[in-house]
Amino acid sequence: MGPLATQVGTPCYVYSGDDMKARFQSFDRAFSSVAHRVCYAIKANSNLEVLRLFRRLGSGFDIVSGGELFRVLRAGASPASVVFSGVGKTVEEIDYALGCGVGQFNAESAEELKLLEARARTLNRAPRVSLRVNPNVDPRTHPYIATGLQEHKFGIDVRLVPGIFRFSRTLKKARLEGLGCHIGSQILSAEPFVETARTLARHVRELRRSGFRIATLDLGGGLGISYQDKPAPTPDDLARGMLPLLDPLGCELIFEPGRWLVGRAGVLVTRVLFLKRNGRKRFVIVDAGMNDLIRPTLYHAHHQILPVKLPLRAAKIRVDVVGPICESGDFFARERLLEDVVAGDILAIRDAGAYGFALASNYNSHPRCAEVLIQGKMVVLVRRRETYSDLIRGEKSMQIGSLRPSGN
Ligand code: LLP
Repeated sequence: MGPLATQVGTPCYVYSGDDMKARFQSFDRAFSSVAHRVCYAIKANSNLEVLRLFRRLGSGFDIVSGGELFRVLRAGASPASVVFSGVGKTVEEIDYALGCGVGQFNAESAEELKLLEARARTLNRAPRVSLRVNPNVDPRTHPYIATGLQEHKFGIDVRLVPGIFRFSRTLKKARLEGLGCHIGSQILSAEPFVETARTLARHVRELRRSGFRIATLDLGGGLGISYQDKPAPTPDDLARGMLPLLDPLGCELIFEPGRWLVGRAGVLVTRVLFLKRNGRKRFVIVDAGMNDLIRPTLYHAHHQILPVKLPLRAAKIRVDVVGPICESGDFFARERLLEDVVAGDILAIRDAGAYGFALASNYNSHPRCAEVLIQGKMVVLVRRRETYSDLIRGEKSMQIGSLRPSGN
């Protein structure tokens, strides 16, 4: 990692393609006894080369925007392998997805279903649609990433679902044939998934009794990873809990894992700039910031931090590891026991492959960092570091109107 940091510069993200591959295959294998599709949720890490890797493995894709659709198509995905989720799709995004024949739309409201039908009529398309229900299950995760409780904006109240299916009989183009859900992210127990499967299975049976065809069941993503080397459930644990409930339904199952596939496969590599003491507090100031990895400050997420080369002195010191951004929230660790590092040392911030670069920004006008993908023996720069010119690329002014005097 040291030579790589010199060659590419710091900060940079480094991903293991082999690890992503192994994790995809083990997720896929866990459900091999039933008809299923794994659709990688690209919001976790949408680098084109990462998408190509998953495409080659036979993965489908879960997307939530026109931009994500653009990316997966650029990566060579078949539109039929794409599931379009998201609570606020625009007309332009719907038209784009209809136009290229996206495999499934996950609708999150009756209004969205109506809009989808109207646009499908205009464009003469017959999209497959699934309703994302809100199962009112507590995923016991950070409140910002829980999504399956009634207080959240996501999904449709299960009590409204039968009425929407009855209404769907009047549709000419949109084919409502599935149910879906996504209850949250970084879920560290199989129980909420099993509870959700039980709820969905009940609804599938009820809808079928009323004569509706339910061909697919989308269980969303959300399987957590262990950021602190504590035991975490595996796809096999999920399969063991869910399949006895879902298998008898004979639906095609869809899964939308993001973090589980890529989270542990990435590190953020950063260089120590300065060591500093303020009273009792000791700080290790590094060249990466919350603009590169916002998870510690946004979700109080714990990421292990390791020096790439162990320092000669074995002692550890208690420090805050902080970045250069002008915010007190710009930290990677607080009061953490860290090896006794010195300026110039390279640190790896672990488990940063998911929602790392994907949430990066140019705050404080820092160019976004480079990304490197290692596959087998090949080390590939998959995104170059941004330049100062990249920062101002869109800022060309042109007058687009003038205000009329208000008259008072
Ligand atoms: N499907 C849908 C509809 C989603 O909204 C999400 C994530 C996923 C699948 C994938 O979930 P995963 O398997 O990755 O848990 N930025 C946060 C996580 C936000 C997750 C948003 N939705 C973080 O850094 O923890």
